[in-house]
Amino acid sequence: MNYNLLEGKKGIIFGALDPNSIAWKVAQRAHQEGAKIILTNAPIALRMGTINELAKECNCEVIGADATSIPDLENLFNKSSEIFGGKIDFVLHSIGMSPNVRKNKHYTSLDYEYYHKTIDISSMSLHKVLQVAQKLDAINEWGSVVALTYIAAQRVFPDYNDMADAKSMLESIARSYGYHYGKAKKVRINTISQSPTKTTAGSGVKGFDGFFNYADMMSPLGNASSEACADYCITLFSDLTRMVTMQNLFHDGGFSFTGVSQEVMDKFLEQ
Ligand SMILES: NC(=O)c1ccc[n+]([C@@H]2O[C@H](COP(=O)([O-])OP(=O)(O)OC[C@H]3O[C@@H](n4cnc5c(N)ncnc54)[C@H](O)[C@@H]3O)[C@@H](O)[C@H]2O)c1
Repeated sequence: MNYNLLEGKKGIIFGALDPNSIAWKVAQRAHQEGAKIILTNAPIALRMGTINELAKECNCEVIGADATSIPDLENLFNKSSEIFGGKIDFVLHSIGMSPNVRKNKHYTSLDYEYYHKTIDISSMSLHKVLQVAQKLDAINEWGSVVALTYIAAQRVFPDYNDMADAKSMLESIARSYGYHYGKAKKVRINTISQSPTKTTAGSGVKGFDGFFNYADMMSPLGNASSEACADYCITLFSDLTRMVTMQNLFHDGGFSFTGVSQEVMDKFLEQ
């Protein structure tokens, strides 16, 4: 069902790698809802992924940018403004990567060079995107920036490793920058805390199937799909949520506020 919620709006979507990516679904929904978009990803991901198929479907351009590189981000915002002939209305930050997770480093034996990279890619990149956008005055008033996060920012999921620290920082940047950008330009910034989702980044976490199934069994509504996450992003990009900013919004079928479910209890009562 389409509601034309983003008719006349323009946005940049970071992080569509393949059709499983949450950003891929957000791009499709934004296009269906009438938005004009630009897709971006790290140059290496552009070579490996299938983003051009998505660009064709959404009738849009792809601009490579490493989200940790200020010159890349400046180029991205400048080119977007040329293509659109003006400012943008929304940004999706759907970026995460931990070399420590990739190399199976335990949380108590982290490689600190890798740790820096995890933070730079998964959290500081949000600050860089916002700072570059604000300096170039690239986002319209009442524009909306959404970044994706996970509940390991608040509670321990041991195998989520240094990504938990990165997500805590990401949520903090959304709050702090949300204050400053809100005051200066009425731009709003929120994070969506999504259920475990079967994607390249998600499945890279050790024991992923275990906590996917656990969360599904705990959540009264079950795990939220990436399609449902895309729907939620669209509402935050739309004018219907103009007064929502600096929030971490759980999109998890009720997982975050469930102490225990009957199904999980039953597992422990099994003989
Ligand atoms: N999959 C899950 O279970 C889950 C749950 C909650 C939140 N999230 C978050 O959702 C977001 C999207 O992840 P996903 O699950 O769709 O996986 P994904 O692997 O499809 O997306 C991650 C993206 O980050 C991009 N990226 C990595 N380094 C980059 C860089 N230097 N510059 C620009 N882009 C870079 C990758 O190319 C990729 O497109 C991430 O922030 C992730 O942490 C995922």
